[in-house]
Amino acid sequence: MIFQYLAFFTLPCSFLPLLLCWIYIYIYVEGNDVVFFVSLLGGGHLLSVVTWSIVKAAVAMVGMAIDCLANPLGAVRTMFDRACAEGASLEELSRTDWGVKDLFQKFLLQDGVIWQVPDIGSMDISLLSSNSLVRFRGMVQDMFDVEYYIGAYKDGAKWLTTKYTDVASVPVELENDKQIWDRRILYCVPVPGENTWVKQALPPDSKTDVSMYMSGVAPHGEKRFRETSSLTIGTCDMDEDDTFKENFNEGKRMRGSTTSATSCNITDAYQSFDFNMPLGEAVLRPCLVKVYDGADAGIKLNDVVEFIGILTFDPELSSAPQTEHELSNVTTTLLHEDLSILMPASKVPRLQCILLRKLSSHNFLSTLPCLEENFTIFRQTPSVVKQARQSLLQRLTSVLGGDCLAAEYLLIHLLSKVHARVDPIAVGKLSLNFTGCNAEERCFAQNLAESIAALLPCSHFMPLYLESLNRALFSPKKDYQSNRLITGVLQLAEGTHLILDETALTTGQLNATGVQNVQSLKNLMEWQKVEYDFEFHKMEMPIDVPVLILSHAKSKLFPADIIVPLRCTGNQSKLTHDESELNKCRSYLTFVRELEHIIEPSLQKILEDDLVAARQEDRSINTDTFHRWLSMARLMSVSFGEQKLTIEHWHKVKELERRCSERLRCF
Ligand SMILES: *[C@@H]1O[C@H](CO)[C@@H](O)[C@H](O)[C@H]1NC(C)=O
Ligand SMILES: *[C@@H]1O[C@H](CO)[C@@H](O)[C@H](O)[C@H]1NC(C)=O
Ligand SMILES: *[C@@H]1O[C@H](CO)[C@@H](O)[C@H](O)[C@H]1NC(C)=O
Ligand SMILES: *[C@@H]1O[C@H](CO)[C@@H](O)[C@H](O)[C@H]1NC(C)=O
Ligand SMILES: *[C@@H]1O[C@H](CO)[C@@H](O)[C@H](O)[C@H]1NC(C)=O
Ligand SMILES: *[C@@H]1O[C@H](CO)[C@@H](O)[C@H](O)[C@H]1NC(C)=O
Repeated sequence: MIFQYLAFFTLPCSFLPLLLCWIYIYIYVEGNDVVFFVSLLGGGHLLSVVTWSIVKAAVAMVGMAIDCLANPLGAVRTMFDRACAEGASLEELSRTDWGVKDLFQKFLLQDGVIWQVPDIGSMDISLLSSNSLVRFRGMVQDMFDVEYYIGAYKDGAKWLTTKYTDVASVPVELENDKQIWDRRILYCVPVPGENTWVKQALPPDSKTDVSMYMSGVAPHGEKRFRETSSLTIGTCDMDEDDTFKENFNEGKRMRGSTTSATSCNITDAYQSFDFNMPLGEAVLRPCLVKVYDGADAGIKLNDVVEFIGILTFDPELSSAPQTEHELSNVTTTLLHEDLSILMPASKVPRLQCILLRKLSSHNFLSTLPCLEENFTIFRQTPSVVKQARQSLLQRLTSVLGGDCLAAEYLLIHLLSKVHARVDPIAVGKLSLNFTGCNAEERCFAQNLAESIAALLPCSHFMPLYLESLNRALFSPKKDYQSNRLITGVLQLAEGTHLILDETALTTGQLNATGVQNVQSLKNLMEWQKVEYDFEFHKMEMPIDVPVLILSHAKSKLFPADIIVPLRCTGNQSKLTHDESELNKCRSYLTFVRELEHIIEPSLQKILEDDLVAARQEDRSINTDTFHRWLSMARLMSVSFGEQKLTIEHWHKVKELERRCSERLRCF
């Protein structure tokens, strides 16, 4: 639609008292886009139509890009309005996302754009404004019930949506003209045990100044930037924001979603609020993710997921309810039960998820720019893989005080993972016990743990003090009072490496908690499973956490797959601080760990014969030994970058085992 106005005005002029001027004002309205043109000439109409087309094309190319980042809600509303204009039924509107996902996917696929989206896990969230597009990478620690909210409501003749927002200025008196939709809430914590180098390895873009991406109400309450909004689609929400604020201040609005479980004592739960981080990393920030349209279908507890969506926080929820009076108000306006009031928005940001992708820590690493290059080289040149193995092996040897045999074991242990489950056996796990570590040399364990932390994306060093065994909660436990899954140390993402320092254990009494914790560790090592306590029933969750134990000879708490007595010949040295060398080792480990591997049938027969022969020499060799050797042989050939087992690697493993059992004999 085009509106045309003729306007007159006068200009003061030096040679005439007044100069009468006229201009044409054109207003173009198309969907939500409103553009003004001012033209001095009579032919302005044609001219401005041309300009209008150019601007429209520019908006389509650039405007969208700016918009998704700076004003994602504007983009969402535009898509909603478009769907409405195309005559989508209410049922369709509730079922689909009106192309929002596609829009953002296309936008993010552009080169490097993903790294421009601020990562709320690695930055100070107070720098961000509500309603900006953000990323979050975390582990799903808990899954809450479905939350119902007013997804759309009618304002006059027009439907408006509150999807992807937390609070909305929905008029209270709405009766029929509203739609109740639902979304799923995931409580996510930053990946437990993630090592600092991973965060530092993120491209600088994701950590730099984000002010340029901010829009909406800036942290100090300034207005949005008009320059950007005049170029973007969906500028129409300006007014809405203002009314929103008014309503907000007057407290007149009804919550699109409110919160709290009726059964639990809110004040109580507030005081004991706990981020529920498995490893208790207090400096990190969890996130409450709201997932729409069943996008969580493939997501399980403990999965590591990257979410992209709209950051929301509600200042009203930032402070704990002060009085009983306020409390009862909150509970009476409840729409449905939900826990988020227990998590103050100032501490736990909300992310309205638009896109998500499941990550293994390894497929994530391979996309990091600092590792990517080496990855490509490994893929193309097998000999480079072998070189990288050799150089890593040397480093591990010096970390282990010159013990080359132990380093070989450590290398394949670091590559181990559960690659199949034949219940109850977790095939491929390979826990390692370095024994003969001296309790006085506490720094040996510490150094080793630091070296592993510098190589692997996620790891955790756990000295087994008697006190912490007796006190800590290892297996997660459901608390029906607060309706949360209370986390335990063993709620870890796949691939996290665990180093247990048994030498820290002093003599003393394990109480019931301690005994249970030791049992949990045993189960973890033996079956790669952790039992979650749901009070009325227990549930075994599979886990994939390689365990390295440092012990001296005395205790006999846990069953490790391999025991290697250490023979340090020199002083232990630290891993290099050369980042590019370290990156090479990291990408090597990441690369070979993911290699597919097979054992050809022809070789299988040879191996079996070999085992029979070995058994005739040594009666103690049994099927467990055979399984261990197979696992080791697999990892050995993978460590050379090879995807098929060769007889050569099989012999290498047997040689390692022979040398190790020799050490064990005179241990
Ligand atoms: C809630 O917990 C607080 C603090 O523990 C307590 O004083 C209060 O009586 C409890 N209220 C109810 C209804 O249980
Ligand atoms: C809720 O709050 C309003 C104003 O803050 C107050 O007038 C009203 O009485 C409260 N309702 C209850 C049930 O406490
Ligand atoms: C790994 O990548 C770095 C640059 O990121 C490069 O300097 C180095 O040579 C590469 N190393 C190997 C083994 O490809
Ligand atoms: C075990 O001991 C720790 C402290 O030593 C204590 O906090 C815990 O409650 C005890 N647990 C049991 C079940 O006795
Ligand atoms: C490690 O090996 C030593 C020596 O055999 C043994 O005493 C200890 O119990 C083992 N520890 C684990 C966790 O397997
Ligand atoms: C090991 O370290 C100690 C103390 O730092 C030193 O006296 C000794 O010479 C070192 N030994 C070797 C072989 O480097």
